[in-house]
This record gives sequence, C-alpha cells and structure tokens, in this order.
Amino acid sequence: MSSNNLASRLYPTRIDIPAVQRSEIVTLLNQTLAATSDLQSQTKQAHWNVKGSDFFQLHELFDELAGELEEFIDMLAERITALGGYAMGTVRMAAANSILPEYPTDILVGMEHVTALADRFAAYGRHVRDAIAQTDDLGDADTSDLYTEVSRTIDKRLWFLEAHLQTSNNGNNVTSTANNRDKVTV
Ligand SMILES: [Fe+2]
Repeated sequence: MSSNNLASRLYPTRIDIPAVQRSEIVTLLNQTLAATSDLQSQTKQAHWNVKGSDFFQLHELFDELAGELEEFIDMLAERITALGGYAMGTVRMAAANSILPEYPTDILVGMEHVTALADRFAAYGRHVRDAIAQTDDLGDADTSDLYTEVSRTIDKRLWFLEAHLQTSNNGNNVTSTANNRDKVTV
C-alpha cells in the first residue's frame, strides 16, 4: 500500500463524522504528525549539539521544547486513530512525509541553533494555523481545537526563541531571521 493510501486509510467506526471528511482530516493529521516528529528530533539535535557561552540555558530550553513536541506527537497520533485512521508514526515515515527541511549540520554556537529552530518553528506554526481553519471547515471542531492548542504553544515558543535574537540594534537580527524563515516554505 502506498504511503498516500496509508495516510488516509480508515477503519470502521461509529463516530459521527462522515468518512469523506474523516479521510481528509486524517491525511492532514498524518502530515502534521510527520512534521511534529521531525521538529521534535531536530530540537533534540540542537539540545545535544549546541555549544558556546549560552550552552547550559539553551541545552535546557531546547529539551523543554522537545518535551512539549513529544506530547503533541502522542495527541496527534491518538486523534488519528480516534477518527478511525492509521497513524504513520515511525521515524522513517516522518522523514519521508515531513514538510520541514533537514536540520543544518554546519552550525555550532547558540544563536545559530536558535535561528535554525526559530525558522522551523515558524514554518511549523504556519502549517498548524492553516490546519485550524481547514479542520473547522471539515466539520471537526475537536481536531480544530487540538490544532489551536498546538498553535498557541508554538507561538509562545517562537517568542522564546526570537527573544534571543531581538537585540538592541532595532530588530536588525529579527529581520534577518524573518528573511531566513521565508526560505523555509511549506
Ligand atoms: Fe538530554
């Protein structure tokens, strides 16, 4: 069975959302599951490899962010199965289906990792915000609410990351981050 078919596979269920809509919602949730798993592992990558004078506080912060994403992975996968879908949750499935670019391997110090993560949290946040409206339009207020919860946390965590980059030079660093973010299109 192809990956596309697996992402929209439905089992019989008594839930009162029609199969046509559930198939679309489950496909979207599987895309988000892949991106969340990818972002979680990339955040761990930063947690392990960050160096420099900000090492300890960033090492701790990145671990906190990864822990939140781990909870979202479970929420998303279980929403998929509650809708009668098939959760595509392996690392290989995530790598094949993620909307995010691979994490850079040529960065070292704290602010380089903060910038790389801010770019990816922003791209992920845009995907999640789009999904709030899409799932609402498909008649699934519960999945839309789940996406809203994720979106609120991601916005807050993007603030935490960008606060490291918003220095006294009137936001020049922020502009540079925003430009980088534009490159991470989804
Ligand atoms: Fe650790």
